[in-house]
Amino acid sequence: ENLFQVAIDGPAAAGKSTVAKIAAKKLGFVYIDTGAMYRSLTYKALREKVNLNNGQALKELLDRTDIKLVQEVDGQKVYVDGDDVTDRIRYPDVSEHVSLVSSYKAVRTEMVSRQRKLAQSCSVVMDGRDIGTHVLPNAQVKLFLIASVEERAIRRYREELQKGRHPSMEMLKESIALRDKKDMERDASPLVKAADAVALDTTSLSIEEVVEKILHFVKEKQ
Ligand code: C5P
Repeated sequence: ENLFQVAIDGPAAAGKSTVAKIAAKKLGFVYIDTGAMYRSLTYKALREKVNLNNGQALKELLDRTDIKLVQEVDGQKVYVDGDDVTDRIRYPDVSEHVSLVSSYKAVRTEMVSRQRKLAQSCSVVMDGRDIGTHVLPNAQVKLFLIASVEERAIRRYREELQKGRHPSMEMLKESIALRDKKDMERDASPLVKAADAVALDTTSLSIEEVVEKILHFVKEKQ
């Protein structure tokens, strides 16, 4: 059986998970949201009041944390030690601290090993920051999605509205830009386009158009 890997990287709120999810469904591949794994650890660390400046303590916490990504009829669910945290890990306290938690090498090494294991038994669409550069360096298709900060803030704003929240555009823009800066400036596998990844500016593309392009790249290689 030939396993296929699609790696989708890019900055915060560039639409990676939205298009990755749809593309995976159309291809019959499993979608793996690696950001949700880092968010899950961050959520548990906040809950257990683990010092976020202590990478070793975070790695030890991860060692006793079970994170499950499950595809259910009503969408992708995330479970931490059996509890459904799907919505909780998107709250601002987690978003604010996740880049710090994911900056530690010991944490990343363990996450990457779990992510590679998930891709061992089935074809996957995996999204994150270091998938094409580090987690799946041999992925047959690698994409690096970008979009202007303004467009990304507008997309996030619409998502928040749908959830009944009314964030300020300025604050959304600020938090997106700050997370990008931290993700790009860290030492351990920073956010960067893989040399062999295709850069795709989605600012003026619809979700359907981006999905079409992904399917096209996969067909070319299949
Ligand atoms: O994809 P999402 O925005 O949910 O990711 C949340 C955060 O997790 C990112 O801002 C980044 O700090 C971290 N992350 C990472 N490596 C990945 C995926 C996410 O460092 N592969």
